Amino acid sequence: MFDVEGIRAATNQALNEEPGAALQYGATEGYQPLREQLAAFMHSKGALDVAPEQLIVTTGSQQALDLLGKTMISPGDRVIVEGPTFLATIQCFRLYGAQLISAPVDGNGVDTDQLEQLIAEHQPKMVYLIPTFGNPSGALLSLARRKRILELAVKYQTLIVEDDPYGDLYFGDAPPPSMLALSAQVPGSRDLLAHCGSLSKVLSPGLRVGWMIAPPALLANATMCKQFSDAHTSTFAQATAAQYLKAGRMPATLTHVRQVYAERAGAMGNALRRELGDAIEFVQPQGGLFVWARLTGANGKISSGAEFAKRAIEKGVAFVPGVPFYAADPDTSTLRLSFATADVARIEEGVARLAQAL
Ligand SMILES: Cc1ncc(COP(=O)(O)O)c(C=O)c1O
Repeated sequence: MFDVEGIRAATNQALNEEPGAALQYGATEGYQPLREQLAAFMHSKGALDVAPEQLIVTTGSQQALDLLGKTMISPGDRVIVEGPTFLATIQCFRLYGAQLISAPVDGNGVDTDQLEQLIAEHQPKMVYLIPTFGNPSGALLSLARRKRILELAVKYQTLIVEDDPYGDLYFGDAPPPSMLALSAQVPGSRDLLAHCGSLSKVLSPGLRVGWMIAPPALLANATMCKQFSDAHTSTFAQATAAQYLKAGRMPATLTHVRQVYAERAGAMGNALRRELGDAIEFVQPQGGLFVWARLTGANGKISSGAEFAKRAIEKGVAFVPGVPFYAADPDTSTLRLSFATADVARIEEGVARLAQAL
């Protein structure tokens, strides 16, 4: 699915037009033409007031999360995350000594009433959320909850981190605007919001191009930490990404990946319902790359995600059991299935083998 032709053209363009910049050391904040393109990309997604100077380019959004950990977390600080949430964030924030508190998620994303209680009780350093097609939950935070969380940020003066690598991967209607875009409607909230973006899930994870938009003081600290970490994100990758965006290829790429992933998600959902029946329950994802499911244990069937994973591997199929995605109180019956890289025929074969592993 990679747009090899487009990336090749962008690479050539970068080397033809700006070989010095593409091959030389660069600014820690990021290659200016890419910062401009990314600001325009955010603009196209409804975040109308993002200036290039308000974002830094990071080596994948993973580095943005690490920089947030480095700049924000002191040992013992409390950080609220969703239960379940992105495994690497749990590991990264714990490495900096964070005490993680898990906020429950339902079909509309994180439960905002419980989130407010947790914020009031724990006064966290920050709240880390993946509001749009979360990894692993696939959940989509509703518009009302997005606004409420921005209001909570202001009320409790708590930093909210919106990690958004999947927001462009929607299958039907577009999701609600990002919290970054909505922050324009909630006075004071923009000063309490960090937004992480990435080209990994829409263009190429190997490019390692991500970005972070954050209040100036936080951005300055993150830039200083980045300087000692990798000096800057590969200028070659940045110049290539900038040329790719400048060439106007992204809209067609997004249309293509949305269509392919929608088809794969549909095939996986249908196969799961057909082959596994009442042994499993899940919400059909409206975007992203994952089906998040629960084993019901119906009619004496298996109910442990970890045990099911072992049996599935014997049948030649791998998935991730759900437990590691929880910072606390794991639901042992959960699992995460990915439809990202397998075509429809392989998905159907894989799910048929899962049924044999029940
Ligand atoms: C929620 C979330 N955040 C961040 C990342 C990191 O992506 P990258 O560093 O490739 O931008 C991932 C990748 O799986 C993810 O799922």
